[in-house]
Amino acid sequence: MKNNQFINKIIWADALKLLPQIEDNSIDVVLTDPPYFLDKMDNNWEDKKVSSVKYHHTVKSLPAGMKFDREQGKRFYSWYLEASKEIFRVLKPGGFFFSFSSPRLYHRMASAIDDVGFEIRDVFMWLYTQNQAKAMGINHFIKKMNISEKEKEKIREKLNGWKTPQVKSCFEPIAMAQKPADQTYLNNMLKHEVGLMNTNIKIGNNMYPANVFTVDNINELIDKAFLLPKPTKKEKGEYNDHKTVKPLAICEYLIKLSAFSKNAVVLDPFIGSGTTAVAAKKLGKNYIGIDINEKYVKISEKRLKELNEKPDLFETPKETKEKLENTNTQMEFQYFKTSSSLLT
Ligand SMILES: C[S@@+](CC[C@H](N)C(=O)[O-])C[C@H]1O[C@@H](n2cnc3c(N)ncnc32)[C@H](O)[C@@H]1O
Repeated sequence: MKNNQFINKIIWADALKLLPQIEDNSIDVVLTDPPYFLDKMDNNWEDKKVSSVKYHHTVKSLPAGMKFDREQGKRFYSWYLEASKEIFRVLKPGGFFFSFSSPRLYHRMASAIDDVGFEIRDVFMWLYTQNQAKAMGINHFIKKMNISEKEKEKIREKLNGWKTPQVKSCFEPIAMAQKPADQTYLNNMLKHEVGLMNTNIKIGNNMYPANVFTVDNINELIDKAFLLPKPTKKEKGEYNDHKTVKPLAICEYLIKLSAFSKNAVVLDPFIGSGTTAVAAKKLGKNYIGIDINEKYVKISEKRLKELNEKPDLFETPKETKEKLENTNTQMEFQYFKTSSSLLT
């Protein structure tokens, strides 16, 4: 098997060069969080540049994440089209492809995936309430206007509270695509051991799997329907300084929904600090991880080694389990209160 050299390894390579070496129709699930093509987080992702504020600016006064450039989406589309062609080829028929993105460039990513032959089956929403608002006040620009102070003040008053066009971003979309099935889904499942979704997997408090999830406690109703275990500092590794580490519970949820075979291989061509591989390994599945940065390959390997040596670090925290159980009790109590008050 050509793939044997890659199984359960994190490979330091450009994914576009490595993917062609993976066998056709050999991968069960691709789960990945590619560079978002915002600021310096592109296919030339360099740790130093991504970490430094200095490099983010094309327009000097704009903070990271604010640069708006129509070409970003086009570049992302062309690059992801090439990656998606390979991902399509290596996935088994009926195999699932989950791909994280940003609300701003999701459409380009989904189009690239669609255009190589995948069926876009759904989009997941990772919901959160905490994020830094990116909108900028316009005072800075008013100051520079060639008008009197009095006129400036008038404009300031008139446009009080009006800012650049960004509201607080509170979700991340994740495309769920599928390689077309070989005849029926049942036939595909029996022949290739992939293609159906596992509805035994529960979310929130024992609820049917949903396309919305959160890893923060938000309120009883949302937690009951959509809560996944909260990430702990330990699961990431204190040495892990990757800028965009994903919560382990999200990767586990998506793998559990889609990987059926005992020998399933989960591929992440842009693995960063290894979260997909740690999740796959925790679930007893095989993985192949690729990253262009050697530093992240080493961090991934360290996390995987820790999973062997200290599996407790990666366990669902006890308080999350307890909170979920309490949510259920509170919801039932609430229902009891409401329904009994309706009776009196
Ligand atoms: C958004 S991060 C993934 C983070 C990951 N989900 C985690 O939890 O740590 C994307 C990764 O893609 C890598 N990357 C960028 N271009 C690449 C390429 N051409 N081939 C392989 N990896 C690449 C970057 O080094 C970065 O670590």
